[in-house]
Amino acid sequence: MQSKKVRNERYFFRIKRSINNTVLRKFIWGSIYSWYLLKHKSKYFKIFTHLTKIERLLLYKLALSLNNKSIIVEIGSYLGASTSFLACAAKEKNHTVYCIDTWENEGMSEGGRDTFDEFCKNTEPFKDFTIPLRGLSADIAKSFDKKIDLIFIDGDHSYEGVKTDVEFWLPKVKKGGILIFHDIGWAEGVSRVVNEYIKPIQIEEHIIDNTYWARVKK
Ligand SMILES: C[S@@+](CC[C@H](N)C(=O)[O-])C[C@H]1O[C@@H](n2cnc3c(N)ncnc32)[C@H](O)[C@@H]1O
Repeated sequence: MQSKKVRNERYFFRIKRSINNTVLRKFIWGSIYSWYLLKHKSKYFKIFTHLTKIERLLLYKLALSLNNKSIIVEIGSYLGASTSFLACAAKEKNHTVYCIDTWENEGMSEGGRDTFDEFCKNTEPFKDFTIPLRGLSADIAKSFDKKIDLIFIDGDHSYEGVKTDVEFWLPKVKKGGILIFHDIGWAEGVSRVVNEYIKPIQIEEHIIDNTYWARVKK
């Protein structure tokens, strides 16, 4: 007969081993998957952006998690780096990515300039899955009549700017839809709006690098 102590020790050892195996499995599969993505999407990593590689892969993964033919909106497309990762998934799952920007470099530290030609050149491989809508996001919202599965907000980072984006676009997001905000780490406007408007309605939330994302109930 085994003593109770020995039986307990064996029992805890088995639990510990299975936890370790799960963690290890996740780590191994995560590494293989990241390596695969980095290798196959490497040309899109060359487009200039302030998003880290992990943040770009996150956009791709979240867009890939949607049902086929989903509607994606991006506010602040700039040179097309984040667009390309959303659009990689769009190409695989037949989504449509609506890209909204003035392409006048509003609020960018490098100063105003027309970035539209660069955006078009960089996103040329995805032109069947992306629709550029040029103008201020609040103006575009007034005539946008589709229900949104995922929205990436990376435009005007001031409190008033992010608040305006949320007020105009949140009502168009589907129940259970995904909202992603870049620059939560340094832009006070972004973190304030997330705290005031998104946290009270989120059912799942995460921060990865400088990016906050949430699934909302509404
Ligand atoms: C930080 S950049 C976006 C970066 C981009 N997501 C990337 O992958 O690198 C912000 C962009 O938002 C645009 N923008 C700023 N305020 C805007 C507004 N109110 N409406 C539309 N676009 C705006 C700017 O022109 C700029 O191209």
